[in-house]
Amino acid sequence: MLTTEKLTKSFKTRNAVSDVSLSIPQGQMVGVIGRSGAGKSTLLRMVNRLAEPTDGRITFEGRDVTALRGSALLEWRATCAMVFQQFNLVGRLDVLTNVLTGRLYHHGFVASMLQLFTASERAFAIRALDRLGMAHTALQQADTLSGGQMQRVAIARALVQEPRILLADEPIASLDPLNAKVVMDALRTINREDGITVVCNLHTLDTARSYCDRIIGLKDGVLVFDGTPEMLTQEMAREIYGAEADGAFAEGLTSTSLGGVPAKQRLTERDLAKNAQLGMAAS
Ligand SMILES: Nc1ncnc2c1ncn2[C@@H]1O[C@H](COP(=O)(O)OP(=O)(O)O)[C@@H](O)[C@H]1O
Ligand SMILES: [Mg+2]
Repeated sequence: MLTTEKLTKSFKTRNAVSDVSLSIPQGQMVGVIGRSGAGKSTLLRMVNRLAEPTDGRITFEGRDVTALRGSALLEWRATCAMVFQQFNLVGRLDVLTNVLTGRLYHHGFVASMLQLFTASERAFAIRALDRLGMAHTALQQADTLSGGQMQRVAIARALVQEPRILLADEPIASLDPLNAKVVMDALRTINREDGITVVCNLHTLDTARSYCDRIIGLKDGVLVFDGTPEMLTQEMAREIYGAEADGAFAEGLTSTSLGGVPAKQRLTERDLAKNAQLGMAAS
């Protein structure tokens, strides 16, 4: 169980996250939704302790992790691996080495930079890549990969941390619909097969609805919804997204193409993915 108790982060003029209390059972797949600036990233970063809470507490399995320092903090960061929108791979290093850097929490920074990994760690990293369908790229330089491939490598890197929790901050925001599906499918497989809790910030609603057991809605740093996808009414979604509602509902489209198309005629991400698959099957 991961909990936050009245978790708050204040910046000079405002609270990015206000009094957020949550209990997330082990193995749940949670989507955090909200317009940009709602506090999604700040919430995730506090859990991972990349951002220091101003107030409140975080616990995991009954243990307070809010004030951990030194090696205990490193251990906590290994436990809750993070995946980012921009993948954060080292482009000039090969894929396998990128994945192995996920071991640095267990191994020590110097050892990982000198690439002093054991044979069993290398095998573990290859297995992680293989689960993501990326083993064949192990010796390729990371910056030669496509975005979708990079994110799968980043997930493999997270897996070799042997985490209990995977925190994903808008992992598909930079991907096309087909790659977005591959990445979300991978996250859900890891969640189901390994029992790893997944907390995933998602800008758009359809993805959260189709992949997550539970949806948390943030608005101006405040938790305004916490329930199953079925419980999230259209009115509540409009409340969460405010003026961005149309963009959030018509995902898969670029902002430039949003223009004046009536909502009913807009393609959803699923439509686009379906079209792309049909296209592939036909060719
Ligand atoms: N380092 C920072 N300094 C000042 N304000 C920040 C900082 N990081 C985030 N914020 C503010 O906190 C709010 C929440 O940001 P963020 O957590 O990034 O939202 P989201 O991920 O939902 O887009 C925003 O108003 C943002 O401008
Ligand atoms: Mg964010």
